[in-house]
Amino acid sequence: MDTEQHHSAAPCAGLRIGDAPPDFEARSTIGPVKLSTYRGRWLILFSHPADFTPVCTTEFVELAKEAKAFEKRKCQLMALSVDSLFSHFAWLRMIKERFDIEVRFPIVEDPTLVIGRAFGMVAPSDNDSATVRTTFFIDPEGIIRAMTCYPANVGRSIPEMLRTLDALQAIDAQDGLAPANWQAGDALLQSPTQDLDEVYRATEETTWFLREMPKGKSK
Ligand code: BEZ
Repeated sequence: MDTEQHHSAAPCAGLRIGDAPPDFEARSTIGPVKLSTYRGRWLILFSHPADFTPVCTTEFVELAKEAKAFEKRKCQLMALSVDSLFSHFAWLRMIKERFDIEVRFPIVEDPTLVIGRAFGMVAPSDNDSATVRTTFFIDPEGIIRAMTCYPANVGRSIPEMLRTLDALQAIDAQDGLAPANWQAGDALLQSPTQDLDEVYRATEETTWFLREMPKGKSK
């Protein structure tokens, strides 16, 4: 394995879950945007390697198709790449003409990669200095709650983005835990007890640490 390349493939590394990301202002396809003005709403901020590339095009088409699903969850989308505003415009126009869909969420231009670097969206050894497919789920308090990082040649799953958002919103509403393969509407799990008496009282081996929350319970 090329250790240099292995080491460099660690974008997102600067920011962690629980961090408040740095604020920025930039030009975008819907006009100037400022990250901090998104407080009070969920935001998915994501980078893509380049406009006019096949995988990115499929991601934007699928995201645009699901615009209402993100809206329903009171979640804004914001994309970012190194390409210029005018490249973004030309790409969106091509997407409208070819796929008959309008991308209405902002796409930020980051020609100097000042934002991409601050967010760890750039693999340090990438020769072309493009951003990789980094996705930040930012809550209404402006805190990073989840993040993913995919290589340029693997597109993101939009259903999984929605599922992650659903899970984050459900655990906040019900103070529970979302298990493997959880889907909206499924029961959440309770946090394990920290009370030894409850551990001894439990009737089955797993019930003291692996228990569903009563359905419909919210905190
Ligand atoms: C794509 O979106 O298809 C892509 C972008 C950058 C490198 C390779 C593929």
